[in-house]
Amino acid sequence: MRTFSGNLIRTIVFALRLSGLASAKTLHSRDDMFDWTNLTASTNLTLSPCYDVFQCARLTVPLQYSNASAGEAQIALVVLPANVSRNDPAYLGPLLFNPGGPGGSGVEAVIENAALFQAVLGPNYDVVGFDPRGVGHSTPALAFFESPAEALAFFAPYPLNTNESVSSLGRIVASAHLLDDLASARGAIVAESVSTPAVARDMLAITRAFGREKLSYYGVSYGSVLGATFAAMFPDHVGRLAIDGVVNAHEWYQGNDFTKGSLTDTDAALEDIYTACVAAGPSACPIFETTPALVRARVNRLIESVHVAPVPIFNDSVTPPFAVADYTLVVSQLLGAVGTPYGGALQVAEAVVALENGDGAPMFAGSTQELLASLDTCSATDGPFAVGSIDVEAPIICGDSMVNTVKTLEEARQEFEGMLKMSDLATAWYPTTQGPCTGWKIRGKDRMNGSFETNTSFPLLLIGNTHDPVTPIANALNMSAGFFGSVVLQQNSTGHTSQSGFSACTALALNAYFNNGTLPAPGTVCQTEDEIFGGSASAALVTRGLNRRDAGWRPVSKRAGV
Ligand SMILES: *[C@@H]1O[C@H](CO)[C@@H](O)[C@H](O)[C@H]1NC(C)=O
Ligand SMILES: *[C@@H]1O[C@H](CO)[C@@H](O)[C@H](O)[C@H]1NC(C)=O
Ligand SMILES: *[C@@H]1O[C@H](CO)[C@@H](O)[C@H](O)[C@H]1NC(C)=O
Ligand SMILES: *[C@@H]1O[C@H](CO)[C@@H](O)[C@H](O)[C@H]1NC(C)=O
Ligand SMILES: *[C@@H]1O[C@H](CO)[C@@H](O)[C@H](O)[C@H]1NC(C)=O
Ligand SMILES: *[C@@H]1O[C@H](CO)[C@@H](O)[C@H](O)[C@H]1NC(C)=O
Ligand SMILES: *[C@@H]1O[C@H](CO)[C@@H](O)[C@H](O)[C@H]1NC(C)=O
Ligand SMILES: *[C@@H]1O[C@H](CO)[C@@H](O)[C@H](O)[C@H]1NC(C)=O
Ligand SMILES: *[C@@H]1O[C@H](CO)[C@@H](O)[C@H](O)[C@H]1NC(C)=O
Ligand SMILES: *[C@@H]1O[C@H](CO)[C@@H](O)[C@H](O)[C@H]1NC(C)=O
Ligand SMILES: *[C@@H]1O[C@H](CO)[C@@H](O)[C@H](O)[C@H]1NC(C)=O
Repeated sequence: MRTFSGNLIRTIVFALRLSGLASAKTLHSRDDMFDWTNLTASTNLTLSPCYDVFQCARLTVPLQYSNASAGEAQIALVVLPANVSRNDPAYLGPLLFNPGGPGGSGVEAVIENAALFQAVLGPNYDVVGFDPRGVGHSTPALAFFESPAEALAFFAPYPLNTNESVSSLGRIVASAHLLDDLASARGAIVAESVSTPAVARDMLAITRAFGREKLSYYGVSYGSVLGATFAAMFPDHVGRLAIDGVVNAHEWYQGNDFTKGSLTDTDAALEDIYTACVAAGPSACPIFETTPALVRARVNRLIESVHVAPVPIFNDSVTPPFAVADYTLVVSQLLGAVGTPYGGALQVAEAVVALENGDGAPMFAGSTQELLASLDTCSATDGPFAVGSIDVEAPIICGDSMVNTVKTLEEARQEFEGMLKMSDLATAWYPTTQGPCTGWKIRGKDRMNGSFETNTSFPLLLIGNTHDPVTPIANALNMSAGFFGSVVLQQNSTGHTSQSGFSACTALALNAYFNNGTLPAPGTVCQTEDEIFGGSASAALVTRGLNRRDAGWRPVSKRAGV
């Protein structure tokens, strides 16, 4: 049994800074460092050294658990080895991680955050990042486009805001049908094999490959759907299971999570940013005004202005040298800021001031639009593409639904207007969440067959932020009500998942849960050490980039063959 001290907190804080620094450097060379296609896939766990300190394997599982003749899938996984040997009594087994999306790569998340995971989750686990079937280095891949040019032809006109023009919503619905046509023509069997329940079964297969029967798991955002699904389907196989930034899984399987409760706290999160700006004062907050309402009005003035008059950005030393800062760009970046406000809000506030002065470059920097612009510069020899993300998300989000999600334009408009009642930022959320489902007909073959009201073999830990813009804490309370003995820990912060703001209290609670089986007392509230305009730089850890992923895109990545 471990005793907690200031040392552990210092280790965690150190690891956290370290992981932030290390990730930026390793990002680009990573694909050159290890060739996944060289790994022989196997139904047992055949680990090979990779990425310096890690071990990698490709685990063979059925492509469809419900149909043995459908073939096989290979799950790519990376292991950060425990600090103790596997036969040491202190060894706690594998601890699986999912970063959300859906479509996020657990392999990349664990490589990028290795030091943090070991410090927070504990050195006695093998920390396992896996790419869910269809995603990243797992095969077969969800990859419906044959070239970057083809992907660009599809994505460039895809509206990332329903309010950009009168035809935006209609184009989303039309594109949703095209995506379904494309998937049916080129990869229906893959699209129908990537359901969340199938991934839950893979998690049991991975756990068993380590010689264990009980799952240890930490999942954020969409990773909470996966965790809850596992607990519902395999309640007797729960070892330790923590979910963070919790989705209402009841609604998810009715194709309704994004439309029903997802945006409950979005406006409160945005209001936190404007309030923090006023409190921080003009020297710390670039968009300072004397009241939160005046800050909001200032931002909205800019949004209205670029809606009519987008601002050109020209820079001959980048490819392509031109771009525009428009309505869609600014609203997307604002949604990004509420997801990762610690750090993100300041960046967007600075970009607002620049754009007010006619310079759109800072607003464009790091945006989905910038990623999209770089698409056509990728080499065609990089292999199949998943230009994240609706092509990867739709098969999972829409394919999981137990009910038909196809809608007429009028039905889509009603659905969207329901979301709009919760927040205007729905205009930037709908296109990459529920929008693609309006044309998606393919359904996952392996279905959810458990109950979210169940007794698990170990109680779940659920984590929710006071103001999470896309997974409100009400969801964590709702899911906890069904899982007997589970506890909700509230992190008193703004942003998406507890990982968007640093809280030593939350880190210690996770550590106590995974290493000692200790649940926080019901009603526990953890404060964050970060301030929205306080110059703190620890923001956006595991979820760094998550928001952009949620907003619709990931960089094109090289993958193992289809
Ligand atoms: C892959 O395997 C081949 C044959 O064993 C070997 O020549 C090649 O160097 C390997 N590539 C990498 C990147 O490990
Ligand atoms: C694991 O699988 C490989 C290939 O399928 C096989 O050669 C090896 O003997 C297996 N190892 C164990 C321990 O089962
Ligand atoms: C199982 O998969 C095979 C191969 O794709 C297919 O031919 C067969 O129809 C499937 N069976 C069922 C029951 O779906
Ligand atoms: C792992 O073990 C080594 C050697 O015993 C030790 O120096 C190191 O601090 C340990 N790491 C952690 C995270 O406990
Ligand atoms: C143009 O892009 C280059 C390379 O990213 C950058 O260093 C430079 O500051 C940019 N110039 C302007 C005026 O934004
Ligand atoms: C849509 O755009 C118009 C024009 O800029 C604006 O007045 C309106 O508030 C926007 N609606 C939403 C929900 O953002
Ligand atoms: C769901 O399906 C799996 C695999 O077929 C089975 O092991 C499990 O018992 C089923 N659960 C329920 C609640 O029917
Ligand atoms: C869970 O266990 C408790 C206590 O044994 C019992 O009261 C309750 O009915 C069980 N719930 C379910 C869904 O099985
Ligand atoms: C949880 O959410 C579902 C779907 O919205 C709802 O039907 C159910 O009543 C909720 N349960 C609790 C305990 O609030
Ligand atoms: C949450 O933090 C705010 C300050 O940021 C504080 O005013 C409030 O009391 C805290 N709420 C709880 C429940 O701790
Ligand atoms: C570890 O668990 C034991 C037994 O549940 C509990 O008494 C103790 O307080 C826990 N220690 C920590 C540091 O959480």
